[in-house]
Amino acid sequence: MALIEWSDEYSVKVNSIDNQHIKLVEMVNTLHSAMKEGKGKEVIGKVISDLVSYTETHFAHEEDLMKKHSYPEYSKHKAMHDELVGQVKEIEKSYKEGKTVLSHDILNFLKSWLMVHIGETDKRLGSYLVSKSL
Ligand SMILES: [Fe+2]
Repeated sequence: MALIEWSDEYSVKVNSIDNQHIKLVEMVNTLHSAMKEGKGKEVIGKVISDLVSYTETHFAHEEDLMKKHSYPEYSKHKAMHDELVGQVKEIEKSYKEGKTVLSHDILNFLKSWLMVHIGETDKRLGSYLVSKSL
């Protein structure tokens, strides 16, 4: 079973954001299966790097929309993005240096961060954007 099952209840009602969230969920699921299947460091390292770079692309997209539509919670929301990117890069670095093994704790951290962020922070952003009739 996948670590995260996407459902419409996670929709923020903005297509471009939803599609990117679905892709992020898939990537976290891919990381989870790679770990369960005991894939090697090279494969897992690549999956982590892909996840880092897609996360950055996705956050930049949300931040562009926030700026474009003068979202009042921009700084707070961006600060959360920056913190997560910092944490994920830290995980990537220590994994590649062999200081960390990929664990259920790390996967669960990613899962809960993503789902809480989507369910609360991004939904607020989505409602705002919809109200601006995006
Ligand atoms: Fe966000």
